[in-house]
Amino acid sequence: RDPANVILHNSNITWHPSLTRAERNDLRKQKGATLWFTGLSASGKSTIATALEQHLLHLGLASYRLDGDNVRFGLNKDLGFSEKDRNENIRRIGEVAKLFADSSTLALTSFISPYKADRQIARDLHAQTNQDKDPLPFIEVFIDIPVEEAEKRDPKGLYKKARAGEIPNFTGISAPYEAPENPEIHIESHKTSVEDAVREICKYLAENGLIP
Ligand code: PPS
Repeated sequence: RDPANVILHNSNITWHPSLTRAERNDLRKQKGATLWFTGLSASGKSTIATALEQHLLHLGLASYRLDGDNVRFGLNKDLGFSEKDRNENIRRIGEVAKLFADSSTLALTSFISPYKADRQIARDLHAQTNQDKDPLPFIEVFIDIPVEEAEKRDPKGLYKKARAGEIPNFTGISAPYEAPENPEIHIESHKTSVEDAVREICKYLAENGLIP
C-alpha cells in the first residue's frame, strides 16, 4: 500500500495553479471541511449525517453527503467488501471528500470505514494540499453503538443474513470494526437522539469557526 499516495504513475503531469482556498472561501463566504462519519452498519451514521446536511442547507451553507450504499451504485460499483476493496473504497472517498472540502463545501461522508489505517489515509490526504499551506479540516465523527444494539435495529435485515452465513465479511460479525481512539466527535447513538447528535456536531463546527 502507498499510504501517502505520492507515487505519480505519470510523470508528465504538473500541478496547475488554481484559485487559492482563501479566495474561494471569501467568494463563497464559507469554509470547507470533511466530516468523516464512521460506525457499524445500522449505527445511525447515514441518518445523522442526512439530518445534519438538511440543517446546514437550511442555514444556507453548501453541504453534500457521500453515502456508503449510494456510492457503490456508481463511482465504486467495481468494489465489494473484501479488506482490499474496502481500502480502495475509502481511499477514493477520501479523495472525493477532499475535493468537496477544497471547493468550500462541508462534505459529509457516511461509510463504515472499519479500518483505522484507511481513516488515517483519508485524514492525511486532507493535510496534503498542493498550493495552500493549511490542511483542510478533517473531523472524525464516531457513531458508536454496541454491535448487539445495531443487530437489534437491523433495518435492512443484513445482520440476520450475516448470522445465517449468507453475507460473508459482514462488519461486526465476520469482519472487524476498529473503533476510533481519538475522534473529534463521539456520539453514542443508542443513547442520543438524532436532533441532539446534530446539535452536538454543529456546536463543534461553530466552536471551530466552520459555521456561524
Ligand atoms: S466500507 O466498509 O466502508 O467499505 O462499507 P460502506 O461502503 O460504508 O458500505 C456499507 C453498506 O453496505 C452494505 N453491506 C455491508 N456492510 C458491511 N459488511 C458487508 N459485508 C456488507 N455487504 C453489504 C450495508 O448496507 C452497509 O450500509 P450501512 O448504511 O452502513 O448499513
